[in-house]
Amino acid sequence: MIDLHTHILPGVDDGAADLETSLAMGRFAEDGGMTVIAATPHFYEIPNWSLIKQRVDDLNGEFAKAQISVEIVPGAELMMDLNLLDLVASDIPTYADNGKFCLIEFPMHQVPIYAEQVLFALQTKGMTPIIAHPERYGAVVEDPNVALGWLRQGCLIQMNSGSLLGRFGSTIKQTAEIMLDCNMVQMVASDGHGSERRRLNLPEAFEVLKKVVGKDGAHELVATNPRNIIAGHFQLKVEPNEYRKKRRFFFSRFA
Ligand SMILES: [Fe+2]
Repeated sequence: MIDLHTHILPGVDDGAADLETSLAMGRFAEDGGMTVIAATPHFYEIPNWSLIKQRVDDLNGEFAKAQISVEIVPGAELMMDLNLLDLVASDIPTYADNGKFCLIEFPMHQVPIYAEQVLFALQTKGMTPIIAHPERYGAVVEDPNVALGWLRQGCLIQMNSGSLLGRFGSTIKQTAEIMLDCNMVQMVASDGHGSERRRLNLPEAFEVLKKVVGKDGAHELVATNPRNIIAGHFQLKVEPNEYRKKRRFFFSRFA
């Protein structure tokens, strides 16, 4: 398993507070069958791509010393705001520095009106934006087809394992299930912030995913697709479907 969204770097954002926590997260990941973890700190908290890569090298060194057989690759979680447009002109953090795939989070409560423009600007630079945990965004909960719009624009979707496990409530869990059902999700990742609260619960989600999308589908979401993203080549194999709200019993009965 490969976890594409974590806050495992020590002391840089609201994730692992110290090295001890990062090591505990690494051991937990190894025990759960993870081999690669992308460190994706909030870029607004450590807005220096060279420094992030340096911190990743440091943590890989600490993992080797502690005999934790998990590789950390660099990444970042970029906030969808107008500063991103300036960043497009410079050095955008991408997974493993492959220049191809970057992780973008949106504000929870509204999709900014300039979002499409920013996503397009990234694409013109040859990058594919991966939208982080859209199932948690108000606009997507309201209408899951908002995520379909991003996919049709050429973006990809990363879902949080905690959403599927019900950690953010039943409405978000239901949205997550709808999105999986409509093939709107290409990656599931933990967005893990620590070793206790919001931990790297991808193995737990894998068990649930097997029931929702089958064993092969689950494997694609937590292993095959993440591996391809890091390697810098990903082809969409299954077309996403539009979500059609099921009519309520009252109306279907008299239709
Ligand atoms: Fe995150």
